[in-house]
Amino acid sequence: MTSEQIQTLLADMSLQEKIGQLIQLTGVFYAGEGMATGPMSEMGLTREQVDMAGSVLSSVGAARLKNIQKTYMEKQPHHIPLLFMADVINGFRTVFPIPLAQGCSFDPELSREMARVSAREAARTGLHATFSPMVDLVRDARWGRVMESTGEDPYLNGLFGSAMIRGYQGENVGEKDRIAACVKHFAGYGAPMGGREYNQVELSERTLRQDYMPSYRQGVEAGAELVMTSFNTLGRVPATANRELMQDILRGEWGFEGVLISDWAAIRELLAHGIAADRDEAAYLALRAGVDIDMMTDVYANHLERQIREGKIPMEWLDASVLRILNLKNKLGLFEHPCKDADEAYDGAADIEPAHRAFARKAAPETFVLLKNDGILPLPTAPTERVRNIAFVGPYVDEKRICGSWSLFYNMEENVTIQEALEQARTLTVPVSWAKGCQVLDYGQERDGFRDHVKNTCGREELEAMEAEAVRVAREADVVVMPMGEHHEYTGEGSARTEIGIPEHQMELFRRVYAVNPNIVVVSFSGRPLDLREVSRKARAVLQVWFPGTEGGHAIVDTLFGETEPGGRLSMSFPYNVGQVPVYYSELPTGRPHLDGAADGRCVSRYIDAPNKPLYVFGYGMGYTTFSYSPVTLSRGDMVMGKKAAEGSALTAAVTLTNTGSRPGTEVVQLYIRDMAGSVARPVRELKGFQRVTLGPGESRQVCFDITEEMLRFYRLDMSYGAEPGQFMAYIGSDSDTQNGASFSLRQE
Ligand code: BGC
Repeated sequence: MTSEQIQTLLADMSLQEKIGQLIQLTGVFYAGEGMATGPMSEMGLTREQVDMAGSVLSSVGAARLKNIQKTYMEKQPHHIPLLFMADVINGFRTVFPIPLAQGCSFDPELSREMARVSAREAARTGLHATFSPMVDLVRDARWGRVMESTGEDPYLNGLFGSAMIRGYQGENVGEKDRIAACVKHFAGYGAPMGGREYNQVELSERTLRQDYMPSYRQGVEAGAELVMTSFNTLGRVPATANRELMQDILRGEWGFEGVLISDWAAIRELLAHGIAADRDEAAYLALRAGVDIDMMTDVYANHLERQIREGKIPMEWLDASVLRILNLKNKLGLFEHPCKDADEAYDGAADIEPAHRAFARKAAPETFVLLKNDGILPLPTAPTERVRNIAFVGPYVDEKRICGSWSLFYNMEENVTIQEALEQARTLTVPVSWAKGCQVLDYGQERDGFRDHVKNTCGREELEAMEAEAVRVAREADVVVMPMGEHHEYTGEGSARTEIGIPEHQMELFRRVYAVNPNIVVVSFSGRPLDLREVSRKARAVLQVWFPGTEGGHAIVDTLFGETEPGGRLSMSFPYNVGQVPVYYSELPTGRPHLDGAADGRCVSRYIDAPNKPLYVFGYGMGYTTFSYSPVTLSRGDMVMGKKAAEGSALTAAVTLTNTGSRPGTEVVQLYIRDMAGSVARPVRELKGFQRVTLGPGESRQVCFDITEEMLRFYRLDMSYGAEPGQFMAYIGSDSDTQNGASFSLRQE
């Protein structure tokens, strides 16, 4: 449709029809042939209102969505197509590692490709848009949703978010196999106080702008078609009613013209937040903030019409929202092709596309982070004198739930477990055995998930027998690989934890195994950084595999046996203990800084019962070879403000990287900058660049980074954005703790 046609359509729509476009309901409202009356009356909606609703969430299946589209378009006076959305977060039928793991790849292009594959699978099932990427900055491992973010660094999150958007939307979202992306959750959702889900967020304007806003903004600049409001308050105003955030910043400053959707029931929650006295006021506040779609409440459906008729809410607010929604449907090509790429054949396909599977297997090891290795890894594929046999002992040995809590649409049977991968590994001649030892969940433990209900149904005796068998198997082996960790339903939304270790019943198994065989390699599954103190002290190697997705078993076996190396580096610090949280690398210096181990007296900034540093710092991770770095050299010692690069406003920092080991390997070379003195305190380090460099044994290469004035900009004392003259340090190394640095200055001409 042309924009004139859209305008004509809008002008011709009735008030009820317009309001209908703002309503989003789940598939249960469209259950079976007819309409489900239960949910309708529970929510206080009428049949006519549901008939008029403009979008549907969380319903998939080409045949089903085609049917809904046809039935409901016919009912609507102007036959406007519905928009189908769902949470396609780290895959659809083919599931990839969770976003936090993806961040650890330090390879945004890998995530772009994952998003492209996910879009293809989702589009074929009839979806038009995904609620992804989540670009919230996360620094508190207690919060369950850290798994959905790419981590604690604004620069990294911005790169990953925009790469995912490109992967979903391509050049033109109307093209085949493309879906619209939604940047969420605007704003600051990743900083709930105490890590407790949905809790208030308190960020200064400066911290918000400096650290939390850039990834949302980059998402908007990358062309995301939608943005979702967050559940939290920010500065005591819930985001969903926050006009300053939505109108002044998102639409005004950043020029966002797409659709702004509330999070699930967030408009109604304005009452619970205590900023709306009733639903009329909630409707008024949300629409005034510019929230276009009301996800899963009756507030817009039942509380806009009268207020508009009475002139309390201007018709222009409604028209602007409807226009944005119609424009999105038009961009997707839905007026011409209401079912877009929905394809029953693809839906019913017996198998995952082989190319998608192969990619998932190759990609997952890039997200695995080797936290410790005393040389025991990689394991030999054939028996050796020291390793005559290997036991796999732990609850994740044959676990199919390895996709993370936001994987809603995969077929569990298609996931590859570690045990299956071992059984299929033809090149493996070293004898392997396995025993679970326990369940991922503790005795009797159960929990509701978004997909299903999970429960440990084993009896006590059964569990005791499992443990005894595991200890026996471990005793007889030369090496014990222990796949263990959190249940994915203890991560994700609504899964904040105050203890963030491996579950205690699994630690008991670990201790019993350790007592009979200390040659342990822990394979750690989790959706958040865990307190791994005990396992990292006792185990000989620790491989962090997060929730690796469909091909998890293959990817883990490939990595353990050295077919591939673990390619990940931490995109979120692993705390020493929960008391340190939030702990992140780019903190501000204090007036009384303390270096772990230094004897600097009583009144310094430190804990007296724990180090300041996390157990594993941001950027850290090992491969199967070793690298050395030459000292940093700079092409010049100073940069001049306001000049063109060629005239001296940029410099190059370089190191020579050498593979000092006996295997080829890939290093993630990281550039950090510190501004030594600014008009406001500046972080002790900020990631400004990175490169993945692959070298053969003994090979060396010069690795260069351009440092530009732009990289030195920040929100200055007066809140203007720019660089300030002064001294800086450029560090290049293998993690955020590197001391390999050189000094330069930025000066006025
Ligand atoms: C989550 C969103 C999600 C939405 C729809 C909410 O509970 O916060 O991230 O997209 O549900 O499923």
